[in-house]
Amino acid sequence: MDFTASAAQLLNIKADSLILPTGPQLKDSADALDKSLDGAISSLIKAGDFSGSSGETLVMHIPGVSGKRIILLGTAGANSQQQQIKVIGAGAAALLKTPSVKAVWVGEGLSDDSEWQAGIVARSIQAASYQYAPVPKSVKKSKPKKLKNLTYWAPSKADATAAKKGLIYGAAVGNGMNAARQLGNLPANICTPSFIAAEAKALTKGQASSRAKSRAKVSTSVLSEAQMRKLKMGSLLSVSAGSVEPGHLIVIKYQGTKASTKPVVLVGKAVTFDTGGISLKPGGGMDEMKYDMCGGASVIGVINALIETQMAVNVVAIIPAVENMPNGNATKPGDVVTSMSGQTIEVLNTDAEGRLILCDALTYAERFKPDTVIDIATLTGAVISALGKVTAGLLSNDDQLAEQLLSSGTRSGDRAWRLPLYEEYDELLKSNFADIANIGGPQAGTITAACFLARFTKKYKWAHLDVAGTAWLSGAAKGSTGRPVPILMDYLRSKAG
Ligand code: BES
Ligand code: MN
Ligand code: ZN
Repeated sequence: MDFTASAAQLLNIKADSLILPTGPQLKDSADALDKSLDGAISSLIKAGDFSGSSGETLVMHIPGVSGKRIILLGTAGANSQQQQIKVIGAGAAALLKTPSVKAVWVGEGLSDDSEWQAGIVARSIQAASYQYAPVPKSVKKSKPKKLKNLTYWAPSKADATAAKKGLIYGAAVGNGMNAARQLGNLPANICTPSFIAAEAKALTKGQASSRAKSRAKVSTSVLSEAQMRKLKMGSLLSVSAGSVEPGHLIVIKYQGTKASTKPVVLVGKAVTFDTGGISLKPGGGMDEMKYDMCGGASVIGVINALIETQMAVNVVAIIPAVENMPNGNATKPGDVVTSMSGQTIEVLNTDAEGRLILCDALTYAERFKPDTVIDIATLTGAVISALGKVTAGLLSNDDQLAEQLLSSGTRSGDRAWRLPLYEEYDELLKSNFADIANIGGPQAGTITAACFLARFTKKYKWAHLDVAGTAWLSGAAKGSTGRPVPILMDYLRSKAG
């Protein structure tokens, strides 16, 4: 998809679709357009065909000109960024339903922040263009999307310049989301820990050799189980013990600025299938546990977007990738394992496996002397009870970092909400037989899971995003969402300055 920005005469831009955000009152460019069309738009409003309410769409064909259409996009009442993002999403969906090849998006009538708005437009168009690439290939072919080119029309030259930046950023975020979605949607018999490791390597291959044109240096290394054993990652290895698929610790380094700048370390949980282990999950809906690697997939999506934008940040991605299965070698409830940090863990429930792989990855993160560490994990069912499928859970040992992430969530529409890490919750993790138990009982499950992680993150600023509710949708719309790529990218972008 090609994105450009322009402040040229709107009607001089050649396109087969024009997306026009407007309320019931036509203003500025919408009004001018209406006048040049002998009131075709205002008469639709008068007749009651289009009310201009938030997210409403109406496709109209311009009389006398075949194949040209205007997509009216209602904006009334869309005052918050969240509402505006929804409106843009509805416009992108309506556009992608048409056979349009080249479109113009009128960057007026919704938000005055052209850079932000163009970013959301490009991201939404990329996300609306996503089609699952079936593996193995199916005989049923889906119709390819036709849209090739989108011009973002801005009301001034300065706005067009700002919009251009937004388009590049937003398209990369959208592509990163789609990369994460594809990995998430792949079945677990294809998307194994080794498969994710190979994808991570493929992502950075060729990057090293094309250094001349791309500033950033990127590289992937993968630790084997033998190497992890040498590092004493007994907690992580206790999860992969019950699977015939070997576990991997994937490390991707993205250096977009000077080497002395401390990196942001992103740690993404990648349990390619979570049966629960010996603490076996009930059967209903268990297929959705193929999505238990979405934290890791989002981190790969972020690296994808960083490479595309060549953003001036340093990031290290750490992805512990394992399968949680119950074979004869599997960890049993009551087993005590020793983590890389030296702390012993009583595994009271083998289904609380995410924290067991994350704790060793978080200890490993120390060697990169991080500025900040953020882990992303489909960690608890409890976060769905608390926040539903709308908002990610955020827990942090640093107030400023938490505030920054909350505002990145608002700006990107990929929102999070903070929960506390009070010591009263940590006390629920007491074990009679080890330094810590891996579960804290039936109450406050999202918080006790984060308290567990907090025992391993004392040496740096850290935040945890529990995305069990937001990383994928269930039911008829079942599929990976690409979250939390947008909030992470917004945070990194604010770091890049
Ligand atoms: N991957 C699951 C969390 C999950 C459950 C995500 C349902 C989305 C939907 C995680 O490994 C898990 O099983 N957590 C347990 C923890 C419990 C045993 C303390 C949970 O939430 O039930
Ligand atoms: Mn589990
Ligand atoms: Zn899990």
